[in-house]
Amino acid sequence: MPRLADKIAIITGGAAGIGLASARLFVAEGAKVLLVDVQREALDAAVAELGAANAMAVVADVSDAAQTQGYVDAALARWGRVDVYFANAGIEGKVATLVDYPLEEYERVMAVNVRGVWLGLKSVIPAMTKAGGGSIVITSSLGGLKGTPRISPYIASKHAVVGIMKSAALECAALNIRVNTINPAPIATRMIQSLEQQYAPNAPEKIKARMETSVPMHRYGTPDEVAKLALFLASDDSSYCTGTTFSIDGGMSAS
Ligand SMILES: NC(=O)c1ccc[n+]([C@@H]2O[C@H](COP(=O)([O-])OP(=O)(O)OC[C@H]3O[C@@H](n4cnc5c(N)ncnc54)[C@H](O)[C@@H]3O)[C@@H](O)[C@H]2O)c1
Repeated sequence: MPRLADKIAIITGGAAGIGLASARLFVAEGAKVLLVDVQREALDAAVAELGAANAMAVVADVSDAAQTQGYVDAALARWGRVDVYFANAGIEGKVATLVDYPLEEYERVMAVNVRGVWLGLKSVIPAMTKAGGGSIVITSSLGGLKGTPRISPYIASKHAVVGIMKSAALECAALNIRVNTINPAPIATRMIQSLEQQYAPNAPEKIKARMETSVPMHRYGTPDEVAKLALFLASDDSSYCTGTTFSIDGGMSAS
């Protein structure tokens, strides 16, 4: 029996990286997926790959309240309910010390990474309540549990969604809606390449080598590995898990 048979899932940031890998796995496990992203062409390519019977896409900015309600309504119009919400869209922002960090960039990171998640839950919880329950998975980060220099807004945003998750889990437990975060680091996607480049524009490969050395397993994780954790949390396999963080970081959070 597929682990997400007949489940309806919304995945934000679904056009690339962890979101797209999760979309592939969710569909392989029987789900219908609505992908949300700001990248129209990549979304179209993802739907073409997954098949229009299994997937649809909405171009939306997760930080916008009306657009958020719009993509939840699109899922309800097509499939009548939402069982799984994977709040995964995120941006890394710039790399700079806190003192030098531009205020407008701080606002942008918080808008996408925090307001985007909060708005998503605000729109999706009523739909899940009507459906009798569901699972919400939020992509936080190791940076939601620990600090890192020169990306303070990103770190703040990823801590903030752990707080949102804990409050929502308590509010929703009696509604049969589970809420958890996944806390990855470092995963081989565009985002980590951007950070390598920003930390060392002339030698990003040195940052990669240093990061790999600092991971106890001595490698980056893959989006597919994170997708498997998202699948566990999305599915009934995790039926007694709510209100907690799930690290996937090659051992980094152990030290
Ligand atoms: N790659 C890592 O090492 C790592 C580690 C920890 C956490 N994360 C988190 O994983 C999540 C996915 O990132 P990824 O690594 O797959 O990177 P990615 O850049 O490949 O994917 C992020 C996706 O989110 C989309 N997006 C960005 N802003 C958006 C917005 N305003 N509205 C809708 N979509 C938007 C992007 O277009 C992109 O498709 C992010 O929340 C990120 O913070 C990544």
